[in-house]
Formats: sequence, C-alpha cells, structure tokens
Amino acid sequence: MRVGLLGFGTVGSSFAEVLAAQPGSGVRITRIFNRGVGRKRSHEKARLVPAEAVWTEHVEEVLEAADVDVVVELLGGLDPAERWLQAALLAGRHVVTANKQLIAYRGAALFALAAEKGVQLLYGAAVAGGVPVIPGVAQGLSGDRLTRISGILNGTCNFILSSMESGAEYQGALGRAQAAGYAEADPSADVDGFDARAKLCILARLALHAEIDPEEIPAQTIATISAVDFSYAQELGCTLRQVSRAELVDGMVSAGVGPMLVPRSSPFAWSQGTRNMVVTSGLFGGDVVFSGHGAGGHPTAVAVLSDVRAIAENSVQVRLPAHRMKVVGDVLAPHYLRFVVADEPGIVAAIAAVLARHQVNIDSLLQHRGHPAARLPFVITTEPCLSSTVTRAIAEMAQMAFMVQPPLCLQMLVADDPETV
Ligand SMILES: NC(=O)c1ccc[n+]([C@@H]2O[C@H](COP(=O)([O-])OP(=O)(O)OC[C@H]3O[C@@H](n4cnc5c(N)ncnc54)[C@H](OP(=O)(O)O)[C@@H]3O)[C@@H](O)[C@H]2O)c1
Repeated sequence: MRVGLLGFGTVGSSFAEVLAAQPGSGVRITRIFNRGVGRKRSHEKARLVPAEAVWTEHVEEVLEAADVDVVVELLGGLDPAERWLQAALLAGRHVVTANKQLIAYRGAALFALAAEKGVQLLYGAAVAGGVPVIPGVAQGLSGDRLTRISGILNGTCNFILSSMESGAEYQGALGRAQAAGYAEADPSADVDGFDARAKLCILARLALHAEIDPEEIPAQTIATISAVDFSYAQELGCTLRQVSRAELVDGMVSAGVGPMLVPRSSPFAWSQGTRNMVVTSGLFGGDVVFSGHGAGGHPTAVAVLSDVRAIAENSVQVRLPAHRMKVVGDVLAPHYLRFVVADEPGIVAAIAAVLARHQVNIDSLLQHRGHPAARLPFVITTEPCLSSTVTRAIAEMAQMAFMVQPPLCLQMLVADDPETV
C-alpha cells in the first residue's frame, strides 16, 4: 500500500514515525506534500521517511501519482483539503483523513463520491484520536440499534476542567493547557464547543444514522466555569466535564455540547487530562464505553495507520445510510444555577419567585461561607425541567440589580443516564 501524505505536521510526522517502527507492514510512504518542503525536510522525524520518497510543494504530484494507492490527508481545515480530496477520489485513490471539520461538514458528499468511484474513504482518527470509536461503532455495533451517543470529545476541555478540580481557576488551567501544547493561542474552537460538536455530528451519522448540521447543535462555552463551581459540584456528589450528547427522540435528534455536572462515580468523572471517552447506548447490546488518548501525534497516527491497513487488507466497511434529521436543543433535566450577587435581603425570595412563575421546582440551595458579601456565590439546583424554560427564567434574573455577573446554568446528568452508571 503506497501512501501519498498530505501534511507533515504533528500527525503527519508522527505517522512517519509510527510506520517506521513497524517494518514489514506492507505500507510505504512514496510521496509527501507540504508547503516549505525545505523546512519540513529538516524536521527530526523527516529522517524516518524512506529516502526514495518524493517531497513536493505541488499537491497534484501526489493526488494523481501512479505510485500512490491511498492519499492520507493530515492538513486540516475545509479548503483546500476538500477540493484536494475530491480530486484524489476522482482519480480513483483511496483516502484516509483525520480531518473532523471536513468529515462533519462535507462528509455526505465525499462518501457519495467515494462510493461512486468504488474507493474507500476512512476517517478513524477524526473522532477521539487513538480511541477506535469510529471502527468500533461502524463495525462492532452495527448489529445494534443505537439510540444515544455521548462523550468527552475534546481533550483540551477535559484537561482544563480536570485541572480545575484541584482548585485552579479557568485562566490558569487554560494557560497550562496552552503551555503544554494542548490548546491553541485562540482556544475558542475547543472551549466554546465547536470542535466537539463537529465530532458529535460524525458520531451521530454513524451511530444514529442521522445526518445533522453542526451549526444546529447548541454549544455552551466552558469559559464561564469557575473554581467555585467545582466546590459546589463536589457537595452535590458531582464534578464538571464538557459533555457532548446526541439522542434519537421522536424522529429528531436531541443534541448539545457543553459543561455539565456529572456524578463523581460516573466514567465521565474518571476521565482525566486529555483523555476522551464515548458511551453508546443500544436497544439490544446496552451500554458500551470507549476510552483512551483522544489527541496527540502518536495516538492519532495509530488510528490513521490502522485505516491504511484496513484498506490494504481490503477490509469491507459497513456503511448504513444516514438520513437528514432536525436537531432539538431542548432537554428535560435537573439544572445547576450559580449566581454571584452583591448581598442584600430578599435575593433568594426574588429568584425563587421567578422560578415559581416559570414552574421550575427548586431541589436544593447551597451557600458556602467565607465569600465577600459584594461577590457572593450561591447555587440552586432544580428538579428536572426543560432547558428552554430555565433559560427564560435565567434571562429574567440576569436583569436583577443585585446580580454581579450573569447567572450560570448547567445541565446535570442524573443517575439513570447510562454515562453515570
Ligand atoms: N494533533 C492532534 O492531536 C490531532 C488529533 C486528531 C485529529 N487531528 C487532525 O489531524 C489533522 C492534522 O493535524 P495536525 O495537528 O498534524 O496539524 P499541523 O501540525 O498544523 O499539521 C498540518 C500540516 O499541514 C501543512 N499544511 C496545512 N495546510 C496546508 C496547505 N494549504 N498547503 C500546504 N501545506 C499545508 C502544515 O504546514 P505548515 O507547517 O507550513 O503550517 C503542517 O505541516 C487535522 O485535520 C486535525 O484536526 C489532529
């Protein structure tokens, strides 16, 4: 299997390294495309590339080359990656990619083109890096009827939130993630949930056979979480994680991405650092948990090489059709509401009155001592209610004069959710 590699960055160079460590695999890099080839060839991992491989700055010298069987795309981004992969498929080349944005937004058309040309398009590295959730769901669980898929799909958010468990504030934890190379200088794609919702769409297509638009999935940022939320969550027997969930409900997909309270006993709470976790729920097979390193050069390169090998072995992929479905963001769940107020008499009564007017029942009220009266944080948890209802109530409360900052509203995963078993 002769590989034409597009991109010699973190994953591309790791792919060369992982491949070099497995001589006799029957997989060989014959061509590499990247801009600034001179710079790339001086990379320490470039010496792991076979000496006879051709390096080029002209992508067409890879896409249609006679000595390339599979084009491995490790560039990232929608354009020009999409155009180049279309060209590779049209030229009858198999394609392997780790590009989640491309597969989430343009996957349907690319799969159709691959099928038309009788070639394979594999993307096992696009979700959860080295965790084989894509082949696991596509092959191993295709005999079940999956109704729900949920997971920790963004390692950067998991690193930040699991660091905050030990008392760090958000900015400090983000700084550490950036220093360690886990977070970009502009962390928005990770912390605001856009990366996770692209991955959730890919999983929904595969697991729920639902074609959904990433832009329709509500995404809530983790940037408004503070250390005090972890101490209140602990009192509730919980911690916080960025959770992505999609579930079939009445012919639609209920989906969302955001920070949620998860019970400390749940697999999600055990997930530390940059690890990823995916839980599937099937009508017949019950719950299945996938867990491991969701990012990083080596784990991601393993997934890429596994796809190349699957193509080399002519392994048949199960492809079940997916249908366009509407996304609903509303969820019936208990909610965690955190307020920071300038203390004065009557605050709890005023908040309780708004909740009562919206028919939201209070489950508990928590207030820790030792905070300054001018910035007093306290928490109300609700009985299960629709997120749209509680959002309307919160919008009303945000206008109250004693609010020092906008209230925070988070969904709580409850004990009968499969992720919490
Ligand atoms: N890193 C991870 O842990 C991870 C995990 C899962 C999936 N992925 C996915 O894997 C893909 C690659 O990620 P990465 O972390 O390896 O990214 P990266 O380190 O930025 O590598 C991308 C490489 O492609 C080159 N490149 C990008 N656009 C190009 C263009 N238009 N023309 C020529 N060369 C171009 C870059 O060259 P320059 O050096 O000149 O910029 C760089 O060498 C992405 O789709 C990413 O989402 C990554």
